[in-house]
Amino acid sequence: MNLNCTTLAKEELEALRVKLQAEYDKFADMKLDLNMARGKPAPELLDRNTALLTDMDKWCAADGTDCRNYGVLEGLPEMRSFFGDALGIDPERIIIGGNASLTLMYDAMARLMMFGTSKSSAWAKEGKLKFLCPSPGYDRHFAITEEFGFEMITIEMNSDGPDMDTVEKLVASDPAIKGIWCVPLYSNPQGICYSDEVVARLGKMKTAAPDFRIFWDNAYGVHHLYGKTKLADIFAACEAGGNPDRAYYFFSTSKITFPGGGVSMMAASADERAFILKHMGIQTIGHDKLNQLRTLRFLKDAKGLEAQMERLAVELRPKFEIVANTLERELAGSGLATWTAPKGGYFVALDTMDNCAKETLRLAKAAGVTMTGAGATFPGKCDPRDRNIRIAPTYPDCKELQLAMDLFCVCVKLAGVKKLLGEI
Ligand SMILES: Cc1ncc(COP(=O)(O)O)c(C=O)c1O
Repeated sequence: MNLNCTTLAKEELEALRVKLQAEYDKFADMKLDLNMARGKPAPELLDRNTALLTDMDKWCAADGTDCRNYGVLEGLPEMRSFFGDALGIDPERIIIGGNASLTLMYDAMARLMMFGTSKSSAWAKEGKLKFLCPSPGYDRHFAITEEFGFEMITIEMNSDGPDMDTVEKLVASDPAIKGIWCVPLYSNPQGICYSDEVVARLGKMKTAAPDFRIFWDNAYGVHHLYGKTKLADIFAACEAGGNPDRAYYFFSTSKITFPGGGVSMMAASADERAFILKHMGIQTIGHDKLNQLRTLRFLKDAKGLEAQMERLAVELRPKFEIVANTLERELAGSGLATWTAPKGGYFVALDTMDNCAKETLRLAKAAGVTMTGAGATFPGKCDPRDRNIRIAPTYPDCKELQLAMDLFCVCVKLAGVKKLLGEI
């Protein structure tokens, strides 16, 4: 257990500061150049998937469709069945997209703004609109709502999902609130999993906006590291609440095969799906069926996907353990930080003391370790308490990661002690 720094006298803090500065300077002398800024798989993980790129001497789908040619806007039936089996979604709800689910999310938002929903008209005609942003969250979600001019409302995260008391209160009275971002399993960055109760409440809550939409981005839905956490069915919850059109579901194989070279999907109610396909059919004649075919040949079926995810977990667990063990060894009991212990996904989130995140990351960068920018996990890149830091352990190799985490902990401590001394 570490010294609780918050109880130290000024002279003790000053002595500690000198010691930490010497440790920090040693790291700075090493001239490190490590990057933990984005959640990307390491090259070795990608190498394991290269078979996907070689097995393309057959190009016909199960029903004989020649995948080298135009068509099949909604995606190959076997690709829809694959995602349906893997995620527990009726394939009839599913549309296959291109190489990234973020494009589907952006396009869904653009469509809502320009054309509305199957039962309501263009959102853009309604004046100033608002979107709920559970935070810390995924910066690229917030960038989409920012780009379309939404006022973003930060919602605090509890250990079982967004603070639903606040969500219910806000959406019930304000028709300008049009939707909410959700990463329901192993959220980015905290690794939080939505409880059945939260899912049920999202499906049934009364919203002043009749066309309120849940952007259900289940990007880490199969990324289990320590046992399988189950997620309740958002479509069933919306139907049970009398809101069958409320959820748009997104997923992709980005973090399963190749980020940016995978297959994405979106799912919705029958009415919404028909509406989406009508507009998507103007945008494209069909997405890349060859990629659908080769991805399917590689992953095969829900069992094949499970085996692939277990192989990935074997590679990722040691990295998550380096993060957890280093934080525990260096910071437990110090009073300078708290952090999450995700059971899956891609990230760990750490909270410093208030007003210490920027300084921590400045110190880390100056000594050669780049991490996701402070504030990035909040709407408008503004963390009101300047304390949340996203740790992305997947890209560096274990040796580099250990070094980066050792330095990072020195930076957390140095920034914390400076704060306690009243210097920041
Ligand atoms: C929550 C979340 N959604 C979506 C994405 C990106 O997915 P895609 O590559 O399918 O656009 C990421 C990538 O980090 C993510 O963390």
